Amino acid sequence: MLRIHVAVMKILIIVFVSVHLNSCIRLGSNDAGFSADRKSSVYPDTCDNPDADISCSFLNMPASISEIMQIGGKDEPGEKLSVKGTIYKADGKTPFPGVLLYAYHTDSRGYYSKIGKEKGAQKWHGKLHGWCMTDSKGNFEIRTIKPARYPDNSMPAHIHAAVKLSDGSMFWISDFVFSDDDLVNEKYLSSLSYPGGTGVVTLHRQAGNSWLGTRDIVLR
Ligand SMILES: [Fe+2]
Repeated sequence: MLRIHVAVMKILIIVFVSVHLNSCIRLGSNDAGFSADRKSSVYPDTCDNPDADISCSFLNMPASISEIMQIGGKDEPGEKLSVKGTIYKADGKTPFPGVLLYAYHTDSRGYYSKIGKEKGAQKWHGKLHGWCMTDSKGNFEIRTIKPARYPDNSMPAHIHAAVKLSDGSMFWISDFVFSDDDLVNEKYLSSLSYPGGTGVVTLHRQAGNSWLGTRDIVLR
């Protein structure tokens, strides 16, 4: 009886090893095919989301980035706007070079309008977005058009902005807003929660129907 049991056990072990080995071989031989299947499959773009992770904002950057962020083309409707500034380290005095700055905003009608070629988070942020990197003195400049409030006037006109440091850390900073907007009031200012100060920029009209403002940012 014991011998029968031993014989049955041996057969079972042989069958198990054989099946297992065979499945390993199949996995190995199918590995390339499996990868090909993965590549050909359509995976959801997790950045194609209005609440996408902040890291999504730093995808799709152009290969070359300077301290000047150009948003929108020459024919973009609206008043030209330039905001210059310096990013400082936490002490508020030391310029912070090499900081990536991302920004996006509404068009001159208050919409996050799109060209149609936007990818990931920019499908929600719209066509008016860009990146720059602070120079050796921490300076940056955003060249764009003056955004409009949302059509429902629920917020002051604003430019959303995020930074990425050389250590990979990323965070949103307070929006750029404009001091001549009466929605930039106590209620608005008390609602701020991101670093970077109030973000309030005073604009000065320049020749040629354009605006110039300054915003320095301390990253605490
Ligand atoms: Fe917004």
